Amino acid sequence: MAQASVYDRVLDPASRADPFPLYAEMRENPVTREDDGTYVISTYDEIVALLHDPRISSDPRNRPGGDGAEPALEEGLPGVPLPFILRDPPGHDRLRALAMRQFGPPHTPGRVEGLRSWLTEIATGLIDNFAGKNQVDIVDEFAYPLPVTAICKVLGVPLEDQPRFRGWADAIVDSIDPTTGPFAERMRRRGQVNAELGQYFSDLADAHARQPGDDLISGWLTDTGDGAPMSREDLLSTADLLIVAGHETTVNLITNGMLTLLRHPDVLDRLKREPGMIIGLVEELLRYEPPVQMLTTRTALADINVDGTVIPEGSPVILVLAAGSRDPGHFPDPDRFDPDRTNNKHLGYGGGVHYCFGAPLARIETQVALPELARRLVNPRLVADPPPYRPNPVLRGPRHLLIGYDAVLPAAEPVP
Ligand code: HEM
Repeated sequence: MAQASVYDRVLDPASRADPFPLYAEMRENPVTREDDGTYVISTYDEIVALLHDPRISSDPRNRPGGDGAEPALEEGLPGVPLPFILRDPPGHDRLRALAMRQFGPPHTPGRVEGLRSWLTEIATGLIDNFAGKNQVDIVDEFAYPLPVTAICKVLGVPLEDQPRFRGWADAIVDSIDPTTGPFAERMRRRGQVNAELGQYFSDLADAHARQPGDDLISGWLTDTGDGAPMSREDLLSTADLLIVAGHETTVNLITNGMLTLLRHPDVLDRLKREPGMIIGLVEELLRYEPPVQMLTTRTALADINVDGTVIPEGSPVILVLAAGSRDPGHFPDPDRFDPDRTNNKHLGYGGGVHYCFGAPLARIETQVALPELARRLVNPRLVADPPPYRPNPVLRGPRHLLIGYDAVLPAAEPVP
């Protein structure tokens, strides 16, 4: 029997708690070919070059015989065009620009930053619920509800619909977890959720078209700029994409953040005294414990020479971002968690045309969440280290993170 490749060993759920030694082994060969013809890229410079290479596609229709493969998490709603994360330029750029016009600078500079105090209130409320107990699961009771509440607010999902919405978001995340059932059964569940969510967004778009609010969906519908408004089909695929791409990723960043702080009590203590250090700390987390470990949707559109190896046209290409972000050729002492690291150009949000759309939102959510947890939990400690992990090798994070504590300090007075 052929020996398992380093990549095969990374995929093994037994490696989930600590894949980093395997990534170090992987980097000894920046480009490797797997038995099924997939090419795995693990070093910083080679990953960055391919992220910016127009001969690399994100469109699944460019992958010959890709059928039987596990559909990507990002795969969208039935009967709706591919989400822009799975499109190539120029179609990708057109739709992303239309979506971005309502989300960030230069047209809507205040949208995300304006959520900071509201997010603090949500985080405060979640932590208030920890009082009277001495143990909490940070995943279920904090990191999971925060991003879904935030994305609902941004999209304009009314408060009363949020429990239903959270149910759909949970079901989508569940459907990609291989431990929740056989593939066909999970895809049936995913199809059902997609149909319900598609109907929901369609009704919501009707409601916002009649009475626009201060939210993304209303903005997309009422935009009168170049190329606007977004078509109804694109609107549905984009709304669905934001939930899928922005949910589990942010859950994992917050959870990995708390886990890393509890493993580095000196940094946790410092954060209480110096809340301003959270900016560099979040960037270092994205390098050191990235929620997206690898990009698995790329295909070579031509023969591409990478570090002396020719990747033939049509080959699937996997970019192991987490290995690149610990490349010693680029980051001194890469296995050290150093929130004071300068020039931290990590790969946590990818790069090139598909660079994370939601990065400013994910940053603010985590910048709010971690200092609140650090400040209010008295003597927090890990109940199990390592915690149990989800088996997913792409979106890596703990399934649960149990934390013990002695007490919960009162919330700070809101800034008027
Ligand atoms: C810590 C949290 C997050 C991480 C680590 C993360 C990471 C990433 C990465 C690595 C990519 C590149 C994918 C590729 O090149 O194929 C990406 C793309 C994307 N992310 Fe995020 N993300 C996070 C949060 C969010 C949030 C909160 C949203 C939504 C508000 C979001 C929306 C998107 C979208 C729409 C894309 C596709 C961009 C494009 O194709 O142009 N992400 N993200």
